[in-house]
Amino acid sequence: MQHPTVSLTSPATPPLRLGVCYYPEQWPRERWAGDARAMRELGLSTVRIAEFAWSRMEPSEGRFDWQWLDEAIETLAREGLKIILGTPTASPPQWLVEAYPDVLPVDAQGRVKPFGARRHYCFSSPSMWEASQRIVAEMAKRYGQHPAVIAWQTDNEYGCHDTILSYSPAALAAFRRWLGRRYGSIEALNEAWGTAFWGLQFLSFEHIGFPVGQPTSALPTHALDFRRFTSDEVVRFNRMQVDLLRQHAPGRPVLHNFMGLFGEFDHHQMGQDLDIAAWDSYPLGHVDTAATFLTEPERQQWARTGHPDISAFHHDLYRGIGHGRMWVMEQQAGPVNWADWNALPLPGMVRAWTWEAFAHGAELVSYFRWRQLPYGQEQMHSGLNRPDGQRDVGGEEAAQVRAEIDLLLQAVGPESLETAPARVALVVDYPSLWMSQIQPQGKDMPGFGVAIRYYSALRRLGLNVDIVGPSSDLIGYALVVVPQALHVPDTLVKRLTGHPGVIVAGPRTGSKTDRLSITEPLPPGPLRTWLPVRVRAVESMRPGRHYAIHTPDGQARGQASQWRDLVELDATPEGAEVRIRERCEDGWPARLSHGRFELHAVLVNDALLVDWLRDAARSAGLQTLAISAQASAPTPGLRLRRRGELQFAINHGPGDADVPVPAGVALLLGSATLPPGGVAVWQVPGTPTAAPAGTR
Ligand code: GAL
Repeated sequence: MQHPTVSLTSPATPPLRLGVCYYPEQWPRERWAGDARAMRELGLSTVRIAEFAWSRMEPSEGRFDWQWLDEAIETLAREGLKIILGTPTASPPQWLVEAYPDVLPVDAQGRVKPFGARRHYCFSSPSMWEASQRIVAEMAKRYGQHPAVIAWQTDNEYGCHDTILSYSPAALAAFRRWLGRRYGSIEALNEAWGTAFWGLQFLSFEHIGFPVGQPTSALPTHALDFRRFTSDEVVRFNRMQVDLLRQHAPGRPVLHNFMGLFGEFDHHQMGQDLDIAAWDSYPLGHVDTAATFLTEPERQQWARTGHPDISAFHHDLYRGIGHGRMWVMEQQAGPVNWADWNALPLPGMVRAWTWEAFAHGAELVSYFRWRQLPYGQEQMHSGLNRPDGQRDVGGEEAAQVRAEIDLLLQAVGPESLETAPARVALVVDYPSLWMSQIQPQGKDMPGFGVAIRYYSALRRLGLNVDIVGPSSDLIGYALVVVPQALHVPDTLVKRLTGHPGVIVAGPRTGSKTDRLSITEPLPPGPLRTWLPVRVRAVESMRPGRHYAIHTPDGQARGQASQWRDLVELDATPEGAEVRIRERCEDGWPARLSHGRFELHAVLVNDALLVDWLRDAARSAGLQTLAISAQASAPTPGLRLRRRGELQFAINHGPGDADVPVPAGVALLLGSATLPPGGVAVWQVPGTPTAAPAGTR
């Protein structure tokens, strides 16, 4: 598809921009002009507004009130601020749900989720579609050509508060139609779903219900198709908005603000319709509550700094989804209100998170929110300013970043920040995530945990990583890592066939067909082309259970925990030898390789994973660094990231960290020994490589 070329970067507006989220409708008008002035004085360039203000824009059906929004936009624009306008569909007004109750979503128990918070709509509701088309079109017609409106955000965080799935009558009818299109006949569906099991032959499409509420789990393909259907519904709803925005607001990029640790719909598919992928970064909320794969000691360790790889993972994920363009639409600027426990960021972390986002290619970091609001559900959520109007710590740190951006750009110029592709690709596949939720087989297997552990190990080797989808082009990557693609789609098989790089697959990869059945004759299914082995059984392990791993000559290497594939070797033609690099204590292979292809049959402890990936990186000809490679390293939270000619080092603590700055190179920012929350930047002229020269 065609993506608009409107560039937000020019010599006058450097590619490192700061912005804020603001809600004029929540504050008296008398405060707007002062707020706008203070935003300019702080050095902010953009303001995102309006994404929850539908009831103010359309107070009753078809009657629009734009006067307040005109004035808010003019007030901000007068200070030179650029506007990102959010379409307001995340919060349908009460008149809409009263007149058209089918707008409201229904939970898995059949209860309607009522008006009174937000995201109270069902993606399949015809009334919601119609009303959304009207408000988005009217809004885009009014502001589509406004010189201050530089970009559009569709809706707000699709799926926030667990709102992707709806069990409404409209969703059921749409699901049945979707199945009809997919399978053509009920016989074909029965065949595909494997309804021979437990005698579950469905009589007709009209007899199919939701895959919930049965005495035990529904047929896996039934559950998977429902996930696919709902993902398609969200993508379709978004596309409807994007089409209207392209029609009435041509030339303005369209983005959506995705969430962290969230994969309930296919983000790669939605990304096809967007110009930029934005995401909302709440590092402390993620550590405390969202990252269920972290252990309690890890939560304690990163409580005030955020985990050193979770935000970075999402920066890289969304840069890929956004075709190279990524914004942080909401950046945590102080304590949040929504985690189980809400820690205060360590002093310096708001600044460090901002630099971390820029290091990973962000064009814009926009803080949430301008000022803490003394009322409403989020009254305990901090902002750049306190409720009394004084700057809060986050505001001070944003001002510091602003001054540092100016200094940095004076020293090196914006062209040094051109982001180059990494040499390492990590493949993430959303349908595989759904499969691991539907059939976890081990309680701690679903979600992003495995992918983030692999990502983290690569980052501890000082490597830049691109996170790509299963259909992405893999040309140019020296190392391709597929941590846990249960289903390896044909597109990925094609990309890997003949790929000259080193390919590493984690356990479970290739174990399922697109119908969520076991691949034939046995897993790893399509990977058997490159690695002639069969997974004859699998084992998942409760926390605390593990197997020791050793080399063929008996040297101890580490531990397998969580999961293992029990792999047996096919008889291979002479000369085509599969190497068993390590084994579990009971003899089952732990790591195998065949030519440029490597299979991890087990999940291993972090230090061993770093070792394994170091081997792979070296075979791929990549330089690595020993950055925080051991969990017990004095500075496990130090990370490096190269952007263009600049090398960034960010220390998430807990101790001081020495940064590997080459002798004789002057730092542009920070110091050679970084305190927790510290950031250092230096210039490495020349073509980007995996690691700065002279630091191996
Ligand atoms: C995001 C959401 C914002 C706000 C914020 C609080 O999920 O997009 O509207 O609620 O969280 O952290």
